[in-house]
Parts: sequence; structure tokens; C-alpha cells
Amino acid sequence: MQFTSLPTSWNIDQILDDLNTSGFALVDNVYPHEYVRDLVQECSSNLEAFRAAGIQNGVVSHIRSDHILWIDDQLPIAQQHINTLENLAQAFNQAFYLGIKEVEAHFACYNAGEFYALHRDNPQQKNDRMISTVFYLHESWQEDWGGQLRLQDKNDQWHIIPPVSNRLVIFQSDLLHEVLLSKQQRLSITAWLRSSNSIWNG
Ligand code: OGA
Ligand code: MN
Repeated sequence: MQFTSLPTSWNIDQILDDLNTSGFALVDNVYPHEYVRDLVQECSSNLEAFRAAGIQNGVVSHIRSDHILWIDDQLPIAQQHINTLENLAQAFNQAFYLGIKEVEAHFACYNAGEFYALHRDNPQQKNDRMISTVFYLHESWQEDWGGQLRLQDKNDQWHIIPPVSNRLVIFQSDLLHEVLLSKQQRLSITAWLRSSNSIWNG
């Protein structure tokens, strides 16, 4: 099968190989600049609709201080990224038999001083998230702004990944990771490739 609908710059064999050996993969310069610009615009123009991610059903958690907006058909630019991830999921299903059936995603905005403490997106197979992806969509990022993703790979090695603009990080949802304190506004889309249709939003 050909994955013609993945951006041509993606090296799918490399992604599969990296996921297989270390449980995570990085793709840089993911999309054309014009798309990233449109996505930043769609994200920024909806910021007032973002909700504190640490508050769910009125319960406040201090593990994270970012704000999020779940992505649906009302956000057509972001939806294109979801479509790309659906194609990527087909490749993962073929290579790893993951049985991914859907993609669930939200924008995230970390303002200066915000973070997400150490966690797993799918601790002890508690939910149906198989693969986590994070795409960084701010226009630029400087080294001293912090906000790195710190991730433990499946061989227990730690990696510090700067949220470089137009970068996609792909990792197994059971891996331990955190978002270090960000000193500037940090915009991203987190998306999970899920094996079924449960309503878990943790
Ligand atoms: C998450 C997450 C990492 C990042 O949204 O669950 O861990 O780099 N995000 O934004
Ligand atoms: Mn996470």
C-alpha cells in the first residue's frame, strides 16, 4: 500500500524504524510554511475558547497549567493535520498491528510560566491511547524559552526535545514524559491515535 497522502517530506520507513527501536520518532519541517501560518492563525483566533486543562468536571489538578481546545469540524485547518495523522495511523497499523481506529486531538497553549508535570498518557493500559503525537505550531522557538518535552524512551534513556516550530513528536502513549516550564507562549496540537471509541479525555 502507498501512503501517498502523507507529506512527501516524511520518511515513513525512518519513523517506523525509530518507533520500533526507541518508542519515539521526530519529524521536522513537517508542513509547508503557509499551512503552519494558517494553523497558528486558527489557533490564535480561538484562544478565548481554550479551557484550563487541569480542571475536569470541576475537579482541579495541579499536574498541568496549560489551556486546551478540543478539535472538531469547526476547526478546518487543524482538521487537515488530523487527516494526515489518520493516514499515519494506517501505516502504524500495518507495521505494528496496533488496531488504531481514531484520532482525538486538542490545541494546547502554554503561557509563560506554564508546564505539564511528569505523566504517561496511557498509564498501565488504562485507556485506549496507543500513540501520542505533538505538533509545535508557534512561528518560531528560541532555545532559552524552555518548554522542552522531556521523554523517557522505551530503553529508559531520557531525551530533551525543544518544541521547535513545525516539528512533530510521535511516541508510545505509555512512556513517561513532561513539559518543562515555558517562558513564552507555546502552541501545539496534541493528538492520540486510539484503538477504539471510548470517551476517555484524561
Ligand atoms: C500532552 C503532552 C507534550 C508536549 O499533551 O499530554 O504531554 O510537548 N504534551 O506538549
Ligand atoms: Mn502527555
